[in-house]
Amino acid sequence: MPTIVTLPGDGIGPEIMRPALELLRTISEDFSFEEHAFGGAAIELHGTALSDDTLAACKEADAVLLAAVGGPRWDTTDPDKPRPEQGLLALRKGLGLFANLRPVRPVPALYDASPLKRERIEGTDLLVVRELTGGIYFGEKTRTASSASDLCEYSVDEVDRIARVAFDAARARRKKVASVDKANVLETSRQWRAVVHRVHTEKYEDIELTDVLVDNAAMQLVSRPADFDVIVTENLFGDILSDEAAMITGSIGMLPSASLGDRDAAGLFEPVHGSAPDIAGTGTANPLAMFLSAAMMLRHALAWETEAAAVESAVDRALDAGLRTRDLGGEATTAEATRAVLDNL
Ligand code: NAD
Ligand code: IPM
Ligand code: MN
Repeated sequence: MPTIVTLPGDGIGPEIMRPALELLRTISEDFSFEEHAFGGAAIELHGTALSDDTLAACKEADAVLLAAVGGPRWDTTDPDKPRPEQGLLALRKGLGLFANLRPVRPVPALYDASPLKRERIEGTDLLVVRELTGGIYFGEKTRTASSASDLCEYSVDEVDRIARVAFDAARARRKKVASVDKANVLETSRQWRAVVHRVHTEKYEDIELTDVLVDNAAMQLVSRPADFDVIVTENLFGDILSDEAAMITGSIGMLPSASLGDRDAAGLFEPVHGSAPDIAGTGTANPLAMFLSAAMMLRHALAWETEAAAVESAVDRALDAGLRTRDLGGEATTAEATRAVLDNL
């Protein structure tokens, strides 16, 4: 029986986790779910966003399913106060989850929900492979009364392993990798580029590799998204570009993710979006990114490919039949969206 640690978190987190559990229970009665407070909810209970207990439970589990953390209640510029987001970063680091996969696959039913023109979106099917445990997120931070700094550091090994993930993913897709960096300015990017090319020459010459500067990549993503296959990039660039790419699908409420590490690490599965404090409590959050993250969990953590595909196709069919939550320009509530997907499962 697979053990899944569930982390509802904050804001809309619990509102989309509940339907996800309903969906998973419909698929199988054979899950053991273990819920833990996480993020702001854990700060309230334990004074820390990720307790030792929760981290230990995540390490033991077959997979971790997370909704979202954060909110105005814990927003502070004081470096000594705990923040919900620290829990997420500590969890990724603690589980060694260095590879964050963010598939961007707009469904034809939603082409008109995107602010981009249909002819630009058509045919887009890309995967952002975001490095998740290095870079400026995890470098030394300093703060004095007169200045502050965040160190951006990457080891060759960190770049090497994420490059391999990207090339392997491309091999099962359209065999193209765009490596996004800022090598015209940053030393970390120059080494990134050298390592990616070395890995490419060693083992992946069947894959087409292009280097794209991050500012240009941000532009190309909205002008010709269909030309991308796999985008591999460092932590901060990947964070920013994936929110941008979400709009190709119509809404940030559509984008799932999987964070993976070495073979024996429990994966973490979560929507790309945050806790959406502006709509929390209204019952209008789009649960589809959460459902699609659960599908990624079934596929990557449990190797339940049939069940994963069934969830994805239930989402597609509900959208084909007209399901639209508010973020997609419609009126459907979270509960109605959940019903629509379950009815198509
Ligand atoms: P956000 O992604 O929470 O929201 C951005 C906008 O998108 C908001 O207008 C929101 O209403 C909308 N939105 C997001 N998800 C939606 C959904 N499922 N359905 C409908 N609309 C949705 O980003 P933000 O407002 O910048 O951040 C809010 C909080 O979330 C912050 O504390 C931030 O640190 C945190 N955050 C957490 C995660 C995570 O837990 N993985 C990711 C991003 C942001
Ligand atoms: C994400 C989020 C997180 C990140 C925050 C909440 C720490 O934006 O998962 O994309 O920046 O990685
Ligand atoms: Mn983000």
